[in-house]
Amino acid sequence: MKLGSATSLPKSKLHGRWRTHLLRLLPPMTAQRLTQLALRRGWGLPRRPWPELQHFPLRVELQGVGKLLHPIGLAAGFDTNATCLQALPRLGFAFLEVGTVTPRAQRTRTRPRIVRLPQQLGLLDRNACANDGMEVVAARLQALRWDNSVPLAVNIGSNHRTLAVGAVYDYLQGIATFKELAHFIVLNVSASQQVGLRSPADRNFIRTIAAETDASVLPQLWLKLDPDMGRRAFQSLVACAVEHSFGGLVLTDTRRVLSPYAGGQSGHSLALPAVARLEQAYQVVRGELPLVASGGILNGSDIVQRIMRGASAVEIYTAFVYYGSNVVAKLLREMIAELQLLGFPSALAAKDAYWQ
Ligand SMILES: Cc1cc2nc3c(=O)[nH]c(=O)nc-3n(C[C@H](O)[C@H](O)[C@H](O)COP(=O)(O)O)c2cc1C
Repeated sequence: MKLGSATSLPKSKLHGRWRTHLLRLLPPMTAQRLTQLALRRGWGLPRRPWPELQHFPLRVELQGVGKLLHPIGLAAGFDTNATCLQALPRLGFAFLEVGTVTPRAQRTRTRPRIVRLPQQLGLLDRNACANDGMEVVAARLQALRWDNSVPLAVNIGSNHRTLAVGAVYDYLQGIATFKELAHFIVLNVSASQQVGLRSPADRNFIRTIAAETDASVLPQLWLKLDPDMGRRAFQSLVACAVEHSFGGLVLTDTRRVLSPYAGGQSGHSLALPAVARLEQAYQVVRGELPLVASGGILNGSDIVQRIMRGASAVEIYTAFVYYGSNVVAKLLREMIAELQLLGFPSALAAKDAYWQ
């Protein structure tokens, strides 16, 4: 198979380079809201999804979910409340994740809610999972009647006010609410998204979820973990997810930092711990569960490296913020160049190559 030319990838008009630079002059939360508004209104979006992508040997398979045109999806936290979902496939994303959504709506008084860390090519998330609540988001998804061409994940969590012992029931409510509306459900058990920075996830949590959920739904459930757990606890949790027939893992969420403010840091500095977690998870799952890599994926080489280490697909957030709406095209071009450089005829050929 020959790698296709990347020159036919279209340029979105939404925010070319100069628009991305203009957005960066605004506070990050305002820039995000403005981008979401532009997406909802369809300002400057390419007319059709990109047919050119069909020709590239960048296709991958996300076991249990389906075949993807290429490995790049949008991570949770950008379209938390599913308000601009319809426009996102037109920016080229191969799959999408909304959320984190909790049973009841919750707000945060923390300011600033997002901080740009341009020197580290990163962001600081201080949103504490503010969202519109499950009922509202589920109603939006129902109204959308999502077609099956772009797989959709809903990321769920528990409310700040829920006591630790009851957190598992918030997740069970999320599973019941979204199982018919999403291709897969990501249980966000990352400590960096929890108030008090304590993850609800341990082996008992997984066992309870498994015991209370219909066996046919279990393969639809994924776990999103943070990079800050100790290796043993992390690998034991991963083994427990395999044992109970969970669908897959998203690795990883942001890492906890205290400076310049307490929050979850994304982007470049997250890459190293996220890759370490991916490798540690692969050593346990050995292909039994699909892994989606997230954390510091900023160029095509990052994507190829994660695929080589066992990821079936990747998700981005920070790269979207820094590179704008042409980010998927940029990453695919770089990915093609990297695959050529390493002598892989396709993305699938690179899968797990690091472990051979
Ligand atoms: C501002 C911001 C908000 C986020 N919100 C969520 C969220 O609500 N739920 C979640 O699971 N992850 C959330 N994340 C984590 C991202 O989904 C992603 O896993 C992480 O940023 C690492 O990827 P990146 O380096 O490409 O940004 C958020 C990240 C940022 C920067």
